[in-house]
Amino acid sequence: MTSAHGKVILLGEHSVVYGRPALAAAISPGAEAAARDGDGASLTVAPWSTTFRAGDGSDLGRALDALAGSFATSDFHLDATLHLPGGGGLGSSAALGVACARALAELRGLALDDARLLDAALAWERVFHGTPSGVDHTLAALGGIGVFVKGEGLRPLRACPRLRLCIGDTGERGSTKEMVGAVAAAYARRPEATAKTFDAVASLVRNGALAVEAGDLRGLGELMNLNQALLASLMVSTERIEDLCRAARAAGANGAKLTGAGGGGCVIAVAGEREAEVLAAWRALGAKAVAVEVGA
Ligand code: PMV
Repeated sequence: MTSAHGKVILLGEHSVVYGRPALAAAISPGAEAAARDGDGASLTVAPWSTTFRAGDGSDLGRALDALAGSFATSDFHLDATLHLPGGGGLGSSAALGVACARALAELRGLALDDARLLDAALAWERVFHGTPSGVDHTLAALGGIGVFVKGEGLRPLRACPRLRLCIGDTGERGSTKEMVGAVAAAYARRPEATAKTFDAVASLVRNGALAVEAGDLRGLGELMNLNQALLASLMVSTERIEDLCRAARAAGANGAKLTGAGGGGCVIAVAGEREAEVLAAWRALGAKAVAVEVGA
């Protein structure tokens, strides 16, 4: 059985697509997979109990094709377990891709260094996201917590005290491709103003890395609130996301924001001592809510 991490973007989604840094952390477990010989390329995903096949027209079918191409092999079956909500902004597709790539390489006795694993996972992710920044599959493969820059990779933070986060699921699902497209449209309409927004997010990310290294949860929370306002100005927030962010702050969280592409998905909050209150406030709004330690 091989495994891979999920991820949360603490600060910097969307602007990371435009070369600005993002502060991201792994969450575990993300996904697990095991491979055996099969007929064609296929994948069964628990807990959905659904089987996908290369050539079946589904995104996962296309991702299997990409995986088979990356390792120049066919006739395998993968059994995977996803421990994250699908499409919720927690890097579920990347976690599946990395766990499956590891399982397939193990089955075929292929040496898999980080570079080859990241290449295979990027080919998988392109099926779902078009032109991903790479933050999801890099965190899925490498874990930890750090500053990610497209084309440069992940710089792990120098020091990282324990960091606990509350994660609330809005129950809504946005499409990452559509959200990334909406930001691209905003950028095309108002390039200067949108670039300024990206630059503002970049400075939040730089300060956020320092705040996490210093264990300054209050500072991190304030930066998250500012990032959320900028994400809303890019039109990737929703009423439900705003409701959950407001509820977290009212329950005593230092800060809250969406994580991932937005348009739905999950919200994160830094709650410190008020973790139980934040989780209760979200559950009262009908959201699934958990507290996790990130950066494994
Ligand atoms: O929704 P997710 O978990 O796939 O995160 C997308 C993050 C974006 O910055 C919006 C896109 C990207 O490729 O980095």
